[in-house]
Amino acid sequence: MGKKIVVIPGDGIGREITDAARKVLEKISRKYALGLTFEEKAAGGTAYDAYGTPLPDETIEAAKNADGVLFGAVGGDQWNDLPPEKRPERAILGLRKSLGLYANLRPVKVPAMLAGYSPLKPAIITGADILIVRELIGGIYFGDRCESEIKNGAERAWDLENYSVPEVTRIARFAMKAAGLRKGHVTSVDKANVLATSRLWRRTVTDVAKEYPDIRLSHLYVDNCAMQLACAPKQFDVIVTSNLFGDILSDEAAVLGGSIGMMPSASIGENTSLYEPIHGSAPDIAGKGIANPCATILSAAMLLRYSLNEEKAARAIEQAVDAALQEGWRTPDLYQEDSGLKKANTQTMTDAILAQIG
Ligand code: IPM
Ligand code: MG
Repeated sequence: MGKKIVVIPGDGIGREITDAARKVLEKISRKYALGLTFEEKAAGGTAYDAYGTPLPDETIEAAKNADGVLFGAVGGDQWNDLPPEKRPERAILGLRKSLGLYANLRPVKVPAMLAGYSPLKPAIITGADILIVRELIGGIYFGDRCESEIKNGAERAWDLENYSVPEVTRIARFAMKAAGLRKGHVTSVDKANVLATSRLWRRTVTDVAKEYPDIRLSHLYVDNCAMQLACAPKQFDVIVTSNLFGDILSDEAAVLGGSIGMMPSASIGENTSLYEPIHGSAPDIAGKGIANPCATILSAAMLLRYSLNEEKAARAIEQAVDAALQEGWRTPDLYQEDSGLKKANTQTMTDAILAQIG
């Protein structure tokens, strides 16, 4: 039985990096007889230009019927002045909502080989291994908002943060289970000293933890967590947090691994799940063929693991990326002169990874 992968390149470097990951998936599919088939769909600013909407219904339908969705990136300066509902970002937010992708997993590992690239000292980060579990379809991202109103003679705008107990329970359970397969430690991050939503969050996560007696639960305020990530990241195993805090902390955590160009993610839904690099569309280097394809290729590995249950094939991709780095291949985001490294572009990096798959 074939498995259908919907590929959504999006904008900017999205085309280059999803092409690279697709080549890797095609090769893995042949090697492990996975029978993968691919269908490409439009989203983002390029979809707006072609169809007048950043998220055509056809894309949503195809994604819903897929066995897994591989997403590139959306956004670019030329679309910044569009009204909010036409902006490219609506594509990814709309996909998350319509597919019910409630759990966003952002693993951050620091291989010794890349520790030197981080702005943080190697001694602080080497060996750090964190899984950020971000709630993805609630909170302030999806609450009521007002773009502009006049109150007491002044123009203002507002966004509403709200969380329900079932929403927090669902993501907390997900984090507890994930920790059970790792080191058994969950850090829940909130701002319970100030926000009502955070107090409900903390109370609910504490209740859920009672169902998982083997898991150790800690709580941190988000400001403290931001500091701890930079000064003592090895204390973390699984971090569970809200949509907005997770957005911010996961970019910060990505720095530990040297380049955001290495960081994959999985957005897990009840049925279909979606996989995307966390780095965005990088318009400044789009079309130059120099984007680092590793984050997208590693996202494809997560697709095999979580959507298709093909652990062996997923590992084969991860090992191939490691081996290509070990051979010295580096895209410009990670390349250093006079270091005996081999300068790669998107194509040569992908070829080096494909060669490792054999
Ligand atoms: C991310 C991105 C998105 C988000 C943007 C593109 C809407 O920053 O996936 O982290 O804020 O969730
Ligand atoms: Mg982000």
